[in-house]
Amino acid sequence: MAKTATLEIEGKKYEFPLVEGTENEVAIDIKNLRASTNGYITLDSGYKNTGSCESAITFLDGEQGILRYRGYAIEELAEKADFLEVAYLLIFGELPTKEQSDKFHNDIKKESAVDEDVKKILDAFPKAAHPMGVISSLTSALTAFNPSSVNVNSEEDMYKSVVRILGKMPVLVAWTMRKKQGLPLDYGDNSLGYVENLLKMMFSRPNSCYVQNPVLVNAMDKLLILHADHEQNCSTSTVRIVGSSHAGLFASISAGISALWGPLHGGANQAVLEMLKAIEADGGDTKKYMAKAKDKSDPFRLMGFGHRVYKNFDPRARIIKKAADQVLHDLGIEDPILEIAKGLEKEALEDQYFVDRKLYPNVDFYSGIIYRAMEIPVEMFTVMFAIGRLPGWIAQWREMRLRKEPIGRPRQLYIGETKRSFVPIEER
Ligand code: CMC
Repeated sequence: MAKTATLEIEGKKYEFPLVEGTENEVAIDIKNLRASTNGYITLDSGYKNTGSCESAITFLDGEQGILRYRGYAIEELAEKADFLEVAYLLIFGELPTKEQSDKFHNDIKKESAVDEDVKKILDAFPKAAHPMGVISSLTSALTAFNPSSVNVNSEEDMYKSVVRILGKMPVLVAWTMRKKQGLPLDYGDNSLGYVENLLKMMFSRPNSCYVQNPVLVNAMDKLLILHADHEQNCSTSTVRIVGSSHAGLFASISAGISALWGPLHGGANQAVLEMLKAIEADGGDTKKYMAKAKDKSDPFRLMGFGHRVYKNFDPRARIIKKAADQVLHDLGIEDPILEIAKGLEKEALEDQYFVDRKLYPNVDFYSGIIYRAMEIPVEMFTVMFAIGRLPGWIAQWREMRLRKEPIGRPRQLYIGETKRSFVPIEER
């Protein structure tokens, strides 16, 4: 017999089916709650207890620190796969064969040219503009340059939109950074791998030949893989909900980029570095900042600590910590900021406040250190997160459309004024 949950409201009982996932997670299906209870809704601010969809893309167990893409452990993928293989896996469900992988990369390369007129839009932004704002706008502008809507019943249409955005996004990212630095734009080199090409477009100088550093290529590849998907987080939920109105892929991704920008989400990597610099400038007293983080009357939070779902450790943080050590070692970098980071990490892991609340360093605590070693400007950190998350957003958007999910439209509990009469201005 199918399992159910019983809800009792004012003496009346209602049955709701239980739905079980492949990892034995159980959900109460409340689809018919309003209809059967005559108007009752659930209230769950921040959606801490609400499953917005069924998804076969990413499995995350926050208590045990497990993260898997399509069943593969993140640790294994970070070690053995490259970013494009992971992108293919997330979007299409299986690791690509050599043939599929080559075709995928070639198709992306064919779409890697951005309309020259995009440069005019880029030129119009002030140099001081935050790159996340620029990238979100340029991604949205792509909709105007590629207006054909995606027929979700056509495999070919879906595939085209996927390779198009994967081809164009690295160009937009690199151009945004170069524009800010006053450098001429680089069109990339399609004979290179996806990550190598991204690095070339970001770092080449007009008067010298860009030489790839395998340590940096490897670190960037890992960073992008670790950020590639994270199930229904704030930006991904945004992409799905925008896409649920049948808005196009570029428009949905542009909205996701805006959601990622915030310091409680992707913007945390920039916030971590700024926090570490501020501590350094203030004499490097980590204890003082630990006390601030614990003081409830002080809005300061230790950026890079805590996570909505990981309540033991962030498995991405473990991998990235190793990569950060390797990059700093291989590049021979001694960074006082890193010393402060290590000090904070040690103190927080031993501090009762952080232990009680299960606050551990998250992926953003370490990623900023690698980006800094790579000489990526701080304001670009969240953009790097965005390019890593791109395959996840695409995969989730595609899944949502293929499953023909309904438009996302939450309910609310109204707590405002009840009906009242208009008062003319002279009588108020
Ligand atoms: N520093 C100090 N106290 C904290 C912190 C922190 N970083 N994070 C949470 N707390 C405290 C919080 O004050 C609360 O204390 P109390 O129970 O006494 O009121 C308790 O821990 C629970 O916090 P919460 O805000 O209810 O937890 P949440 O699950 O809603 O928030 C979070 C998760 C990530 C927004 C939060 O931990 C935070 O603001 N961290 C700093 C920002 C950050 O690093 N964000 C990156 C997340 S990883 C990248 C990504 O996936 O986007």
